[in-house]
Amino acid sequence: MSYNPRRALLFMPADDLHKINKAATLEVDCIVMDLEDGVAPDRKHAARHTAAQALQTLAFGRTERLVRLNPLNTAEAEADLAVLLPALPDGFVVPKAEDTISLSALSARLATFEREAGLPQGKFTLLAIIETARGMVALREIAASTPRLSALIFGGEDYTSSIGAQRTPQGMEILYARSAVVLHAAAAHLQAIDTLFTNLEDSEGLRADARFGRQLGFTGKLAIHPKQVPIIQEAFTPSQAEIESAERLLAAYKANQALGIGVFAHEGKMVDMPMIKAAQNVLLRAGRLL
Ligand code: COA
Ligand code: MG
Repeated sequence: MSYNPRRALLFMPADDLHKINKAATLEVDCIVMDLEDGVAPDRKHAARHTAAQALQTLAFGRTERLVRLNPLNTAEAEADLAVLLPALPDGFVVPKAEDTISLSALSARLATFEREAGLPQGKFTLLAIIETARGMVALREIAASTPRLSALIFGGEDYTSSIGAQRTPQGMEILYARSAVVLHAAAAHLQAIDTLFTNLEDSEGLRADARFGRQLGFTGKLAIHPKQVPIIQEAFTPSQAEIESAERLLAAYKANQALGIGVFAHEGKMVDMPMIKAAQNVLLRAGRLL
């Protein structure tokens, strides 16, 4: 079993070389150089070339390097791919994902590039942001649109405005959508990445929001500032106590299994298969089952 953790995905505008340089020095699972809404229209050209150059010249260590495209089926997205494909990022983030035809077409285009460049098939991964009402109702089809897809990302800010809701600190207005994204990601064996937390000064609020996202079933969360990264990565890393508890549970499971016992009591609680799977999942995320 292998697991490629994407606990924090740090966004930065792709025309900001200073931020890209800074990101390369951070211990972050994943960075996303943004060509879409973080970049002014007259800076798109510069952003593409800055991102391509960064990919070709900077050492990012173990950090995964992604690029957020402009919405598919636009001239901007075409220009993004023309400049960024030869720079070989690890994958692309697709904003405002709504229809499967354009996702499949993008996947086919990536396959052609991979073949012609002698790259392994499937080298470029895709992550789709669900952030519109149309995207939300097409979740099932989007999740199955291409085997290249590795994650669904929930974009809470665009989504809220798309349905005419009002964003509140409590976030009840996005709870249904968050859970829907987790559900469809799980059904399609994809990672589920939670929306960003906009208040850069509120680190306790961020910690609580990241933990809540993990409780809902998300595997990671977007970050927009370096100081958010350690808080998010910690929230999505099993604690020592969780790891030890999972190890004790699995040891008890093995012992009971050897005796032919299926359901048993452990530390005062009934244990059966779903809890065993959850414990295995904790160890997988902690890197213990790799
Ligand atoms: N990635 C990498 N580095 C970042 C960063 C990011 N997302 N955000 C800030 N930094 C760097 C700054 O350049 C600065 O570096 P320095 O100390 O070497 O000068 C340092 O971290 C501290 O930054 P700070 O001054 O606190 O923030 P700022 O005012 O420069 O920027 C934002 C604030 C919100 C504009 C910035 O965090 C940002 O661009 N975030 C990403 C926004 C984005 O991509 N949105 C669209 C996708 S959701
Ligand atoms: Mg958006």
